[in-house]
Amino acid sequence: MNTFLSGLQSTGLLHLGNYFGAIRQHIAAVEEEGEHFYFIADYHALTTGRDAELMRERVREVAISYMALGLDLDRATLFRQSDVPEVCELAWMLSCVTGMGLLERAHSYKDKLAQGVQPSVGLFTYPILMAADILAYDSTIVPVGKDQVQHVEMAQDMGGYFNGAFGEVFMRPEHRLAQGGLHQRVQGIDGKKMSKSYANDIWIFENGKRLKKRFGKIVTDSRAPEEPKDPAELLPFRFLELFLDSAELAQWEERVRAGGAEAPGYGHMKIRAFEAMEEYFAPARALREEFLADPGEVDRVLALGAEKARTRAAATRDRALKACGLR
Ligand code: ADP
Ligand code: TRP
Repeated sequence: MNTFLSGLQSTGLLHLGNYFGAIRQHIAAVEEEGEHFYFIADYHALTTGRDAELMRERVREVAISYMALGLDLDRATLFRQSDVPEVCELAWMLSCVTGMGLLERAHSYKDKLAQGVQPSVGLFTYPILMAADILAYDSTIVPVGKDQVQHVEMAQDMGGYFNGAFGEVFMRPEHRLAQGGLHQRVQGIDGKKMSKSYANDIWIFENGKRLKKRFGKIVTDSRAPEEPKDPAELLPFRFLELFLDSAELAQWEERVRAGGAEAPGYGHMKIRAFEAMEEYFAPARALREEFLADPGEVDRVLALGAEKARTRAAATRDRALKACGLR
């Protein structure tokens, strides 16, 4: 039987990239047979967060987002990472068998350095804590976005180093990517990868005028609607692809390719994508409002999740302590 586990950092409002690249597949995986653990990576968020009130708020926001988007809480355990301090103990044990070189090769770390970030020790050892998260629950499948694949591979390596030194303690996890290239790399309104750090993102629960305005900012060229075009090259079309059913999408595609007087302009595409997105998330938006109005419910869910997750992680921690001679 498989154990599924994934986490999301609580560093901001969730955008379409987070949804199609990560959360949507977390929620879908819960239908598969096995155990399911999803958590809000607040310890990880501390590598960048410096505002305590905002940290608390964002943890709730991610929890509510998962709940509103339909995570089946009868089958999945939703919890806050920092409610399971056992992962920090595991992270220490893993750090003692992991070479500096492995961490120095991490793409995400190298990217941060290239951006001129002054790295903290926590940022450098981020993959160790992530490995501890993964190994603590005996996870076998880790659904993640493309940029997290290397981190899952590093968890395989670290689990392997520990097992090699002290005997079979950790299971070997495998990553799993979202289906389809479109969802693996959702583009932002400027055409680059959607990311909150590029300020090109669209919040999944945005709606009304603000959402319409956001769609209006999607970058286009100045070609006339009549000119026949390849839809795959058009950014507004990429957004249609996210939300339209295949029959309607095929019609748009055909009209764009054909060009002429009947062809839709960029403005038309943006308006249709805006409407379709608004409709797509409408049920989740309504549920989110309900959860916002009932904070006690979120607290109950997280408390129950913490209890279940801790029991699992404590058992793994005990196994690891014993194996390496600390018990
Ligand atoms: P951001 O780049 O906005 O800071 P995160 O790094 O917090 O996003 O990503 C959280 C999760 O969402 C990761 O699993 C990541 O792979 C996924 N993700 C983020 N942006 C995208 C995107 N544009 N397309 C697909 N998946 C994405
Ligand atoms: N690093 C992941 C992200 O930025 C979040 C994360 C932390 C995670 N621990 C994890 C994902 C364990 C999968 C498994 O999105």
